[in-house]
Amino acid sequence: MIRFERLTKRYGSLTAVADLSLEVRGGEVYALLGPNGAGKTTALRCLASLLAPTSGTTWVDGVCTQDDPVGVRRRLAFLAASMGLYERLSATELVQYFGQLHGLEGDRLDERVEAMIELFGIESFRDRLCGRLSTGQRQRVSLARALVHDPPALILDEPTIGLDVLSGQTIYEFIDRERARGKAVLFSTHQMDEVDLLADRVGVLRAGRLVAEGSPQSVVADTGEASLARAFLSLVQQPEQGVGS
Ligand SMILES: Nc1ncnc2c1ncn2[C@@H]1O[C@H](COP(=O)(O)OP(=O)(O)OP(=O)(O)O)[C@@H](O)[C@H]1O
Ligand SMILES: [Mg+2]
Repeated sequence: MIRFERLTKRYGSLTAVADLSLEVRGGEVYALLGPNGAGKTTALRCLASLLAPTSGTTWVDGVCTQDDPVGVRRRLAFLAASMGLYERLSATELVQYFGQLHGLEGDRLDERVEAMIELFGIESFRDRLCGRLSTGQRQRVSLARALVHDPPALILDEPTIGLDVLSGQTIYEFIDRERARGKAVLFSTHQMDEVDLLADRVGVLRAGRLVAEGSPQSVVADTGEASLARAFLSLVQQPEQGVGS
């Protein structure tokens, strides 16, 4: 459902993502890990057609991002904390607007907007302007906006950043349900408890390279460490080495 084929992205002399290949199937949740600056956001932005790769290709639901960016956007939800909201629209208007952009209308639009507002607990501030929302409220509206068209692939860049424990729990339950509905979910995080709770597989990026991949259990076992957090530390502190190199 989601595929990276030898993706490389350079910014001048800096290689942010180096020859990345990975795949996420429908019904699978994949956690992308890596220290600050490892290339997670860059890779996800290339997949979502927000950045042009230096080389390589990405695919969503059989559609190549570089050939058909519009087709890809229709097939995925992309969530990132840095995404702006239109400050002068209310929360409800914003979600409606993005539903329309994705081609929803009439009853189906209303139904999806209301479902998102309920799911992410937006009722109490649904008529407030986005410019006046708190960090966590903005994150919830961003989730509603990203997911309103019910696409088959979900790309979530640090989805629980800024959320309280209860809201974080809502996201975990949501991801679980989406997996059960056959969606492919690719998310980045710095929180190992989220990975333990959610991920079928993890990939660890270090300086743009995938240095480990597999089920959380197998990644831990391969490093000989006692926990995912320790395995992660040992992987990102090791001398340069890529998967298969
Ligand atoms: N537009 C840009 N121009 C130059 N360098 C950039 C640009 N965007 C990102 N970078 C660099 O590319 C590298 C990868 O950044 P990226 O945002 O993908 O990391 P990340 O893994 O998402 O990190 P974090 O965990 O902090 O979110 C970093 O060294 C970053 O400084
Ligand atoms: Mg990032």
